[in-house]
Amino acid sequence: MQESMAELFLHSPQTRTLLLPLLLLPLLYFIISKYLIKKPRTPPLPPGPTPFPFLGTIHLLKPLTHVSLAHLSRTYGPLMSLKLGMETLVVASSPAAAVEILKTNDRTFSARTVPHAVPLTESEIERLSFWGDALSQNWKNVRAICRAELFSAKSVEAQRRLWEEKAAAMVGSLRAKEGTAVDMGPVVFAAVVNVFANILFSEDIVGVEEERGCSEVRGFLRGIIEALSAPNLADFYPLFVGEFDPHGLRKKHREISVRMWGLWERVVGERRRSEEGELRNRDLLDVLISRGFTDEQINKLFEELLTAGIDTTTSTINRTMVELLSNTESMTKLQQELRSVLNQDSLTDFPLEQLPYLQACVKETLRLHPPAPLLLAHCARETCLVMNYTVPRGARVLVNVWAIGRDPVVWEEPLEYRPERFLNSTKDFKGNDFELLPFGAGRRICPGLPMAAKIVPFLLAWLVYSFDWSLPDATVDEAFRATTLMVQPLLLIPRARR
Ligand code: HEM
Repeated sequence: MQESMAELFLHSPQTRTLLLPLLLLPLLYFIISKYLIKKPRTPPLPPGPTPFPFLGTIHLLKPLTHVSLAHLSRTYGPLMSLKLGMETLVVASSPAAAVEILKTNDRTFSARTVPHAVPLTESEIERLSFWGDALSQNWKNVRAICRAELFSAKSVEAQRRLWEEKAAAMVGSLRAKEGTAVDMGPVVFAAVVNVFANILFSEDIVGVEEERGCSEVRGFLRGIIEALSAPNLADFYPLFVGEFDPHGLRKKHREISVRMWGLWERVVGERRRSEEGELRNRDLLDVLISRGFTDEQINKLFEELLTAGIDTTTSTINRTMVELLSNTESMTKLQQELRSVLNQDSLTDFPLEQLPYLQACVKETLRLHPPAPLLLAHCARETCLVMNYTVPRGARVLVNVWAIGRDPVVWEEPLEYRPERFLNSTKDFKGNDFELLPFGAGRRICPGLPMAAKIVPFLLAWLVYSFDWSLPDATVDEAFRATTLMVQPLLLIPRARR
């Protein structure tokens, strides 16, 4: 009975006259929506060089990418986009563009593009690593622990005795080599690395005079930094490459990590075996164990803190020495300031805040030579409008703080080393002045900033106060100013101050 009703309905002439318009409706809708209704136009990607199919614009990026990106931004503007293989790269190169990325849209850009060379799965990254999303629980936890235990004003002040001890060892080893050309790299490195190792687990990891240990640990850090920053096809073609490691960078990183964890493996074991009451929160390791951190979590956190903190701190100190030796007027002014405030008999307890010229020298070095010239890559967690351009979800976003620090629109005589520019200025690198961003800004700002901002001028004060410095061949030329600290030794002659 029901079937015959349906048949009746389908074959009735009224149904047939209705059916045709009904079937045409979707087609009509498609035509009207596509061609007749004016939809709001999606703004384009930021301007940039025309990409080749599949290859994109990889060929335009020379090895020093912050320099080549700065050149390109002169053509394409303060917010530009490039295609790297299949990936979209967006680069901000002016203070206004940096404000958009790191302040106005901070939440959107607070995720990271994790380099393929990081030898962790996605879930390990979220569970174990600083590379994790800024909205993840682990990231918030480790940032909070580091803030409370390492970088609060109280914790930084409490580290001062340790800094003095390591600075005294550094100056002692230089005195022993007085009058000869000393490679400053390992000397400053040993002081910095031992400060960090003691803050984390209360042991030195290199002897001041022990060049082999020093070069081994430097090799670890350098190896990891190189693996992370080398151009990697897996970053440009993630869909094709997947887990495959085309340049062996992930393998290299993993091998170095495992060797590096060996530096503290014994201490972690001993602490775990010690009575619970013996853990007296002497250092970060005690805190982590008492909070139930696993060895895996401790290893990753220590590795990442050391990798992020040591080379940046050491290179800022060495780079300041290069600038001071190239600018004798600045060196003289700094020595005069130090000699009027510090006490020859005891280099302890001097107030850093009473040394404005020293602070200005550090700011000037970080303006010209930010150790992370493009920050670390941020990632757009959703499609977003920036300066009337579309930044698509998943885009890798860089801020060229090196280019901003040398922009003649922002800075007078930008290539000159002139610490004086900071003397009557409130400009600082704490993430509020977007002309000076060596530590970044916003949620992802460097967590180590409060410590770096003190330990760098502290160790410099000891070096510059204790010695008169000269160069082996007495020539300061462009090549010396452009010294690549990662590659060449920095040879200087110390003469103790009488
Ligand atoms: C002169 C010294 C230093 C400079 C110039 C520096 C600079 C930076 C920069 C630019 C970033 C990335 C910010 C961004 O992507 O927006 C960063 C991240 C980081 N820094 Fe530093 N840093 C220094 C010292 C330190 C120290 C002493 C530590 C710790 C011991 C440290 C630990 C970290 C960590 C863990 C991150 C990753 C944070 C995250 O992704 O959430 N840094 N640093």
